[in-house]
Amino acid sequence: MNQLLLNDKVALVTGAGRGIGRSIARALAREGARVALVARSAGQLSDTQSEIAGLGGDAVCFPADVSDEAAVVAMVRSAVERFGRLDIVVNNAGIGLFGLLETTSADTWDRVMAVNARGTFLVCREAIPHLRRQRPAFIVNIASVVAVKGYANQSAYSASKHAVLGMSKALARELQSDGIRVHVICPGGVDTEMAGQARPDLDRSALMSPDEIADAVLFLVTRRGKAVIDQIDLRRESATPWA
Ligand SMILES: NC(=O)c1ccc[n+]([C@@H]2O[C@H](COP(=O)([O-])OP(=O)(O)OC[C@H]3O[C@@H](n4cnc5c(N)ncnc54)[C@H](OP(=O)(O)O)[C@@H]3O)[C@@H](O)[C@H]2O)c1
Repeated sequence: MNQLLLNDKVALVTGAGRGIGRSIARALAREGARVALVARSAGQLSDTQSEIAGLGGDAVCFPADVSDEAAVVAMVRSAVERFGRLDIVVNNAGIGLFGLLETTSADTWDRVMAVNARGTFLVCREAIPHLRRQRPAFIVNIASVVAVKGYANQSAYSASKHAVLGMSKALARELQSDGIRVHVICPGGVDTEMAGQARPDLDRSALMSPDEIADAVLFLVTRRGKAVIDQIDLRRESATPWA
């Protein structure tokens, strides 16, 4: 692949087996990045890998649970051994378990926090020493509109995404002098399996497409200017502006 925007770059994308993560992995590979694909379901990762191979790209599957510290340590080490470097990390893996707070079990709360907040923390922590060797280097954390708002039935999920946003703000400051940019994308409803569970009331044809979130990631990691975008909020066209 010649003259592509991400030639020679290596990206690691969590939650790359389906939905938004698969679109992000595909978009990065299309621009020449070699991509480490992470999720728990090996079969879904293989499907993403095949799609990328079909585009002439290079991706390798690293099945892992991002909430499992030992698994994340081993996964990041294997990816860097395989590709020799790491330039871009996209923390996209996430789960939503939805319901009223008063009926939310402690286990449900802990699981959502473990995947969405702890998983993002662990992958960042393990990736940073490798990202520090590259300039520019990028961390893109996929939060959600509920990182800044709260919706009924989404207390655990909202708390976990507020945690991702807060952690990202602090991390952006910690890494600024290393030239590692930390970005957060906060999407509203995107047409994936998760959206069907979170908002069964919404007409799926009105939801954003996963490729539109991937476009935003690509925009962030291919910018070379002095202007830095900390956060991108994306909403459905029919959602209330500035709400
Ligand atoms: N869809 C929306 O409307 C929407 C809106 C705003 C933000 N988001 C966020 O966007 C991200 C992607 O969501 P999506 O809609 O594409 O969801 P999705 O279709 O359910 O895909 C989630 C991906 O994350 C992986 N994953 C889940 N738990 C994991 C774990 N413990 N370890 C590693 N990988 C794990 C899943 O694979 P396995 O299950 O095989 O592990 C899958 O590949 C999430 O962080 C979500 O919160 C989604």
